[in-house]
Order: sequence, then C-alpha cells, then structure tokens
Amino acid sequence: MLAPLETSEPSGSRAASRPATVRGPRGTAASITGGQDLTLDPADFTEIQALARARAGLNLTAEKAGVVQFRVATRVRALGMSSFREYLERARRDPDEVSSLVGALANNNTSFFRESEQHPLLRAAVAQGLRTCSDVRIWSAGCSTGEEPLTLAMLVRAWNPTAAGRVRILATDLSREAVAVARGGRYTDEQVGAIPAELRARFASPAADHGWFDIAPEVRRSVRFARLNLMDPWPMRRRLHVIFCRNVMIYFDRATQRRLVGRFCNALEPGGYLFLGQAEALPPATNGLAYLDQAVYRKVDE
Ligand SMILES: C[S@@+](CC[C@H](N)C(=O)[O-])C[C@H]1O[C@@H](n2cnc3c(N)ncnc32)[C@H](O)[C@@H]1O
Repeated sequence: MLAPLETSEPSGSRAASRPATVRGPRGTAASITGGQDLTLDPADFTEIQALARARAGLNLTAEKAGVVQFRVATRVRALGMSSFREYLERARRDPDEVSSLVGALANNNTSFFRESEQHPLLRAAVAQGLRTCSDVRIWSAGCSTGEEPLTLAMLVRAWNPTAAGRVRILATDLSREAVAVARGGRYTDEQVGAIPAELRARFASPAADHGWFDIAPEVRRSVRFARLNLMDPWPMRRRLHVIFCRNVMIYFDRATQRRLVGRFCNALEPGGYLFLGQAEALPPATNGLAYLDQAVYRKVDE
C-alpha cells in the first residue's frame, strides 16, 4: 500500500510563491492573466474536474475552483470565446484542446537546484550506471520549464566531464508551453540565481536580452525535451537507470499515484533509482522499491 501523498504545494522551490505562470523569454512564454470576470458555475467545474482526472490524473478538489476559474478563463479568452459553456463544447469535440486545458491547470512551479539534498544519491546512481553500462539513461518526468533536467546535466558535467557524453537525459512534460520554454534554454537572472556561483559562471551566460541568461549549449544538448502525458503509453524502448518524478504525483489521486509508481518500477533497470519530491515520501519497499533516503528509492533486484 502507498501512503497518501500530501496535497499541498511542497516547499523547496524558490518559485513556489510565484503565480501559476509558465515563464520564459519573450516570445516563448505563455502568461496567465486576467479571467476574473467570467463565472464558472458548479456544473462547468464538475466537467472540468472530470476532464482533468480522465486525461491527466489531476485531482482538482473543490477548493481549487478559484484557481481553475482563473486559469481556464485565460484559455477561454485566448480562443476568443465569452463563456465556459462555449469553451467546454469545444473541449468535448477536440482532444487537443483537452491537452491544452490540463496543461494550463497543472502547477508548473520549479527551480534550478531544487531539493539538492538528493544530489549525492544522484551522483552515486550515475557513477554506478557508468561502471556497469555503456550509457546512463535518466528521465525527468514532469520537467516543467526545464530547470530540473538542466540541473542534472550541469551536475553530471561537473562531476565527470569526460563521461558526460555517455549520460542521456530525457525530459518530458504535459504542458506544451512549459516544454517550449525548456527548449529555449533562456532564464531570468532571478531563476539562474539558484545555480551555485561556480556552476552558474560555467554554464549560464548573459543573453542579448537584458536580464536573461542562456544555458550553455553543451548542457542543453545533453537533454532531449519532449511533450508527454504520463497517463499515455511511454516511448522508451530501454529501461532507465534513474527516474526523477518530483512534485508531480502530488497532484494526482491515490489510484493514479499507485498505477504510476508501478509503471516507474517496471521502467527502471534492476538497481535503478526513483527520485520523488521530498513531500511525496512513500513507505519502504513499495512495489519493488526500497527506500534509501531523502525521498529516493531503489528498485530491488528482480
Ligand atoms: C510542480 S511541477 C514539478 C517540476 C519539477 N519536477 C520539479 O520538481 O521542480 C509539476 C509538473 O508536472 C506536470 N504534469 C502534471 N500532470 C502531468 C501529466 N499527467 N503528465 C506529464 N506531466 C504532468 C506539469 O505540467 C508540471 O510542469
């Protein structure tokens, strides 16, 4: 049995206090603004709840109605519509629109070097993979705007520059806008401020746009970004050495969490590592995973 995961936004993110907005350089950002004067009636909210649960496993409880109203209203306006009803008629016919809807509803808070207490265990996992395999495969599942996988890529380069080319990082997220920002590789000075000074000097350089920084091409090249809904089939053909899925399952209902942990376990190499957010600790030895430390689990041998 899994312990219930907490449902509050975890701490540990410098971004946790900022509004639910996908931020990025001009031209790539999708900002969520306005939307206060459209009214969401209970039937519309119930339908949005059902769509978000069915499509993305999101658990939108009644107290989230205000946030839902705000975020969906932005989408309604962007499509030139004037009511939630009209919008839901469109969403019923258009699966792509449902994907945009759940992307807008998901919380994108993230930051560079978030929950860095876990990094020594990542170092051990990468070292073990490099010893036993020709390549080390890491997946950042629910990578938001890219800070998490880019942090992993910087660390791998700093720890073992000669072997960094053998470490491949796949980073995926449900939100189209978040993936677009991640691919852009450009962040504000406030965002790159979370990178330790030595690594920031090495891997982030001022962009032509004042107040923005570009992440070094060699770091960006080691990460492949893609859009993926975790509820859909996964494209990986080979098992992974490390999976990061931090601060993602916290927004899912218990049944979805349980299913997903089982799928992560199957997708890992024996001895592979699963990193969850620190507010998402599962009990020891759940579904073939043994607890190590700091919300990190290791797959027990099959
Ligand atoms: C709070 S962010 C966490 C980002 C990063 N892992 C971290 O810990 O900083 C949660 C991310 O999960 C993504 N997400 C939510 N539901 C998802 C789903 N069904 N499939 C893929 N990604 C999902 C959201 O789009 C969002 O970017």
